[in-house]
Amino acid sequence: MPMQTVRTHPIDGQKPGTSGLRKKTAIFMRPHFLENYVQATFDGIGGVAGKTLVIGGDGRYFNDRAIQVILRMAAANEAAHCIVGQGGILSTPAASNLIRTRGADGGLILSASHNPGGPDADFGLKYNGPNGGPATESVTDKIYERTQNIECYRICAAQDVNIADQGTYDLNSMSVEVIDPIAAYVTAMEKLFDFDKIKALFARGFTMRFDAMHAVTGPYAHAILEDILGAPKGTVINGTPSPDFGGGHPDPNPIWAKELMDIMYADNAPDFGAASDGDGDRNMIVGRHAYVTPSDSLALLVAKAHLAPGYKDGLAGVARSMPTSRAADRVAASLGIDCYETPTGWKFFGNLLDAGKATLCGEESAGTGSDHVREKDGLWAVLLWLNILADTGQSVAALMEELWQTHGRYYYSRLDYEDVDSDKANAMINALRDKLADLPGTTIKGLTVEMADEFAYDDPVDGSRSTNQGLRLIIDNDARAIFRLSGTGTAGSTIRVYLEQLETDPTKLDLPPQDALSDIRAAALEVSDLVAMTGRDAPDVIT
Ligand code: G1P
Ligand code: ZN
Repeated sequence: MPMQTVRTHPIDGQKPGTSGLRKKTAIFMRPHFLENYVQATFDGIGGVAGKTLVIGGDGRYFNDRAIQVILRMAAANEAAHCIVGQGGILSTPAASNLIRTRGADGGLILSASHNPGGPDADFGLKYNGPNGGPATESVTDKIYERTQNIECYRICAAQDVNIADQGTYDLNSMSVEVIDPIAAYVTAMEKLFDFDKIKALFARGFTMRFDAMHAVTGPYAHAILEDILGAPKGTVINGTPSPDFGGGHPDPNPIWAKELMDIMYADNAPDFGAASDGDGDRNMIVGRHAYVTPSDSLALLVAKAHLAPGYKDGLAGVARSMPTSRAADRVAASLGIDCYETPTGWKFFGNLLDAGKATLCGEESAGTGSDHVREKDGLWAVLLWLNILADTGQSVAALMEELWQTHGRYYYSRLDYEDVDSDKANAMINALRDKLADLPGTTIKGLTVEMADEFAYDDPVDGSRSTNQGLRLIIDNDARAIFRLSGTGTAGSTIRVYLEQLETDPTKLDLPPQDALSDIRAAALEVSDLVAMTGRDAPDVIT
């Protein structure tokens, strides 16, 4: 088959963030854009000759065509073997699992996660390494460097591979194995959870809604929850992946998963609700009339994970991203295990998981996972919850009440200011950074600042240091306000303000969160001068 070397040149804006490269779909579809980035990725990881790669995505618009380009380029770059999910589908955790269980050299995941899909929306591409996790910073640096001096890419002229049907096909001297995207993931879940106990729970009439948000977890959830665990048909809603996610925003939070929230807060609400995002790594948990924040969900899972067979010997440790509430820390302390605080982004958990220092990890942005893969895993979190609900026989609300009575409750909220003019967003962060050193001891809106710094992380495994990871203030009565710029937005800058307030008075554990946080919120807005500096008087999204 003819192999072509196509002359190209560096293209602006190909700097991968914490989750690979995310851009408007139209940009990815421009001549040479995808090809350039794929070649830069191959070069940045030291070439793919003789290697085995796992390839799949969340089914969004351009997923199928991009996979054909990647396959032709992998063949031209002399890869030995590609494992592709049938129809081009693989959830992010399923891809991570396959890389690990098949001993692949890495994988390419096509997704922009929870961002909308479609010709006018977002697309993304991420490289995961041989441990199944997102590329480390040194690898993404190399990929970026290559995008800056690339001169050519290699591609072979060939027809599309038939990824619609399982089987093994040849492309040049490379073989393409099209596999069932679900089977290996089911095997992994069966090892961790007591499927019989969960089956018995559903057989007793336990009711659930899982909202797949028209995204990749639909087929996984239909297979696991309905076909294997026996939940009635109709338990999974919006379960057929669509290229534009049904025109929605596949982000499992109370704003974007409103359909599920309405179901869970209705008079006849089911016992348990959950949702997952575009590529299946995030999760939202909600009981009957009881939304569980991702930070609280992590804390509850840390407290009860030992009830599932895969974690029966307890946890080696736990890790959370810095802006995630400190609820998990309190549970970890009571269990006598370490709790690591890492920068935002799943890749920082990889070393802790690989080194056996942490078993469970989580982020406030609806990501939870464990050492079974090197990505967060939406359905895994749902199954762990189900295992705990089946084992304890308690409701979600009762489990949360018990957690708060035992450890106190961290009221928590995140305010997102999206598509802010980048100069203004940077100016706000820079101005706040400049005054951090003077803040301790001062009073803002009646609250005293105890500590103020810019978070930096020293990786306890490889000793690397990551700086500029968010500005944080600890304010009296164990409250925190954190400011950081998103690394995943695709337009302008997104400012995230994270607020938390610990409450240990047993009579004050059921306040509306925004009421409990009103003082710390006022202090955060005052100290950052956010409204004046950005021209925004309200956040776009409050979760
Ligand atoms: C966001 C989340 C972060 C998550 C990342 C990828 O990043 O905040 O926790 O790891 O998406 O899903 P951000 O946009 O804040 O940089
Ligand atoms: Zn995702």
